[in-house]
Amino acid sequence: MKKENILITVALPYVNGLPHVGHIVGSHLPADIYHRFNIQAGNQTFMIGGMDSHGTPAVIDAKRLNIDIEYFVDKMKELHSKIYKKLNISYDIFSTTHTKTHFEETQEFFNLLNEHGYISTGSTKRLYCETCKMFLADRFVEGTCPYCGKTANGDECEHCCHTLSTDMLKNPKCKTCGTTPILKENTEVFLDLPSLQKDLDKFVETKRNIWRPTVFSEAKRLINEGFNKRSISRDINWGIPINLKGFEDKVFYIWFEAPIGYLSITKELSKAIYNDFWVEKNDNKIVHFVGKDNIQFHGTFFPAMVIGSKKFNNAYNLAGNCFANYEGQKISKSKRVGVFCGSLLDPNCNVDIDVFRAYLTTIIPEKKDTEFTWADFKQNTNAELANKLGNFFNRTINMINSYLGGVVECDFKEPQNDVEKVAFDLLNTLPNEICESYKNIEIKDAYKKIMQLASAGNTLLEQSAPWAKYKEGDLESVKRTLYLALNFARVITILFAPICPSKMTEFYNNQLNISGSPLESGILEHINEKINNHKVNAPSPLFPRWDDKTLETIKSELLNFKDVEDFLK
Ligand code: MF3
Ligand code: ZN
Repeated sequence: MKKENILITVALPYVNGLPHVGHIVGSHLPADIYHRFNIQAGNQTFMIGGMDSHGTPAVIDAKRLNIDIEYFVDKMKELHSKIYKKLNISYDIFSTTHTKTHFEETQEFFNLLNEHGYISTGSTKRLYCETCKMFLADRFVEGTCPYCGKTANGDECEHCCHTLSTDMLKNPKCKTCGTTPILKENTEVFLDLPSLQKDLDKFVETKRNIWRPTVFSEAKRLINEGFNKRSISRDINWGIPINLKGFEDKVFYIWFEAPIGYLSITKELSKAIYNDFWVEKNDNKIVHFVGKDNIQFHGTFFPAMVIGSKKFNNAYNLAGNCFANYEGQKISKSKRVGVFCGSLLDPNCNVDIDVFRAYLTTIIPEKKDTEFTWADFKQNTNAELANKLGNFFNRTINMINSYLGGVVECDFKEPQNDVEKVAFDLLNTLPNEICESYKNIEIKDAYKKIMQLASAGNTLLEQSAPWAKYKEGDLESVKRTLYLALNFARVITILFAPICPSKMTEFYNNQLNISGSPLESGILEHINEKINNHKVNAPSPLFPRWDDKTLETIKSELLNFKDVEDFLK
């Protein structure tokens, strides 16, 4: 297979608040699995991310917590990093938009757009709070959403996911003091989206068979609705000053500058990698991983900016997900509905991260909304991990030890009966299909097929019954079955390693007794090779089953809500 260069970007989380499982399955986890798979495939792959550190969310939170905003964003970056590390998310860099590099990158990007005529200025009537003496940007104002009628912030509606501007809100109120704002003339900087619309549409058309249908149709819908010029200036004093005469005391709108963070954070990682992906024209691929509410910006606004720069490259793929809900409800911090990852940082939280990751993988909302439920978490742990996969591993290693003194040595040329044939065919075809699923970012499919391999392994053992053959003295048959089983175990371990990196590495080294890492670069080139004349080590159960008490313990650990405040004490 031809080697590729891939840069994976993960949506930059807002600095206010800590991630919940919806965020993890919406971007970080699928990006991580895809990253690990591509390394296995021998592709040169980098994964970047960081904090979206500016904008009204940061100002409001620092104020609420009564702490210095610089300290706040530093602390948040540290907390986020710790959570992703704990979840074993393999970022090559997790930075922030609050860096000198990012300020410069944003201002240069703006200059390019300006040089090419995509920037204009003007004055508009905007909401102004006479009590607070300020224009009410984005989240400083709330009111009724014009689309769904529920309460929304000035920048977006959490309920129906529409992007809003403050003037669209009905019954606006200042969020700080509750006053009804007045309309007052304000000067602004605009991005000329209408002039970019045609080129954007052309670009999006090239993605018809690359982006997921949900993502593609959402971008097309927005383009067909048409764009207005978009204000990219904000009257707050936290952010990147606008480098345009007369506007120096305003800052860039976060949705203008945050995606430029992908460029600046790549640059922070390495100037050469930055050039290679964002500037040079080549076959390199940038792949964005984003949650549902980010699809519109990554599918229209940002690609339009990139087109307007006439310098940078757009992403190849946009892996936009749907929503993950929690026990039939929308995840909500204010209502405490969901699993919030601050709990993972508690020293008493003993949840096995791989077991958690495995379940979360099954609810990555790739094609439609999904649901986190405790019953499914337990079911996945017991039925899939313990009974299917773990059991197969354990029986295989066990029998190799009991019947063959730990060593598999077999002159297996071709299957000799139907049972062997079914197993042998699956062993030779499913791994390639699993790689194909990973490659297409259909991670749930990959997961299902891995479990199918484990089931096939169990069926092979069941139907060949090496325990009976051993008793009958048919050692040849025992050897053939365990040769196949060992090779099943090997491919499953490698292919499952992007999802459960620790457990699979442990099994690979300690029980299968294969040196190196199942995640090493290029390992998939050898996926169809067979091991033989191989000695395994002693068995030990990998995935313990959960009874109701275990589930209760895990549940209480994960639901032990910890918010920003708890880490600032
Ligand atoms: N901060 C946004 C969120 O949490 C995502 C920003 S992604 C980027 O929804 F493109 F701006 F970087
Ligand atoms: Zn006010």
